[in-house]
Amino acid sequence: MRLKARFAGPLSGRARPPGDKSISHRALIMGGLAHGRTEIGCLLNAADVQNTAAAVRRFGATVERGDGDTWVVTGAGGFSQPSETIDCGNSGTAARLLLGAASGYKLSARFDGDASLRKRPMNRVIAPLTQMGARFDAPNQRMPLIMHGGRLKGITYRSPVSSAQVKSAVLLAGLEADGETVLIEPERSRDHTERMLGVFGAAIDDVEIDGARHPRVRAGKLTGANIYVPGDPSSAAFPAAAALIVAKSEIRIEDVLVNPLRLGFYETLLEMGAKITYEERRDPIGEPIANLIVNASKLRGANPPARRAPAMIDEFPILAVVAAFAEGETRIVGAAELRVKESDRITMMVDGLRACGVDAEELPDGLVVRGHGPKSVRGGASIRTLGDHRVAMSFLVLGLASKEPVVVDDADMIATSFPGFADFMQGLGADIAAA
Ligand code: S3P
Repeated sequence: MRLKARFAGPLSGRARPPGDKSISHRALIMGGLAHGRTEIGCLLNAADVQNTAAAVRRFGATVERGDGDTWVVTGAGGFSQPSETIDCGNSGTAARLLLGAASGYKLSARFDGDASLRKRPMNRVIAPLTQMGARFDAPNQRMPLIMHGGRLKGITYRSPVSSAQVKSAVLLAGLEADGETVLIEPERSRDHTERMLGVFGAAIDDVEIDGARHPRVRAGKLTGANIYVPGDPSSAAFPAAAALIVAKSEIRIEDVLVNPLRLGFYETLLEMGAKITYEERRDPIGEPIANLIVNASKLRGANPPARRAPAMIDEFPILAVVAAFAEGETRIVGAAELRVKESDRITMMVDGLRACGVDAEELPDGLVVRGHGPKSVRGGASIRTLGDHRVAMSFLVLGLASKEPVVVDDADMIATSFPGFADFMQGLGADIAAA
């Protein structure tokens, strides 16, 4: 479906974003690996996560909906041979984490995904899992592929990329590997797997190597646990950005995960002059949570350091939109990973911004946006999204503050991460409707 966004006055009110996608995938996978019952409160009920739920069922666990947003997983204490293909849909997280989780079991599984996932690199997990003892039939190192699991040995793996998906695949494989498994990455990526493995009773800690601490896991069984999924800061980024750039807005986004390894976008916004405050900080489940209060702000351009990229990797598209409404240049570097996301997000954002009259330019590992202040953005374009949910949401937010409305060609994929996005934004006063 095509959606159109246009200016309709300030945003106001309060809302809770849907559950965190990263934590939702992990809760289902670890629940499926564990012995016994796992109850997951506020699971993200979106297409990507439902693919993981279906996969976990195919590996032998039961996954059922309980009351409201609660889901119950009953694991058999390990994965067993699936009789059908593991379809990961659009989700790189589902694909890479499940490959790792399944690789320690004596089974052969065929993995596949949609046209976007079939283009994304899988060698980043095939390489370490092969070193540990798994085997792959994977022409081109991409989906579709067959993984043959079995007896694994622990390794110390130096990942060339800072990727929580790679880290998680290796640590989950380490649960069934002889000896210990250590993962070293250039910059620390989100640590939900490490935190949640502790909650499920795994033997996980960290070791110091070359002056930095890195996660280490030893073989061991997981025990079912109770998990609560806070609101997703990567989804909250869209209403937060909208409130900043639509004059006179003030909104409260409630129950948001504020794990420091996910806050790079919000840190950058504060450097740009954004009025964002955190209230009611709490930590009920081993992950910090707070409410965010966001007010429309006069913004200036920023140069977020390259080392911050992993902490804001999914937020660069919406940061590029916010930068168009700031005064001055925003230079994003160290973000080459954006080229292998659901689409090449560097090219997609620069093309779309230019179509909306914004001065933007590609870099090999990022982009430059030259903003001219709040009222300067023309909009008035029809944006091609290539089925990328975050590109679609980013340009709809742009359309809420530009002079002319913005249309996105296909908004259906938004449901992979943020079901009900248009309703959520309408509830805050935005005008987003079918085009
Ligand atoms: C995720 C890690 C990130 C992120 C993705 C979710 C995760 O990917 O982009 O949306 O849940 O581990 P990479 O690990 O490839 O950077």
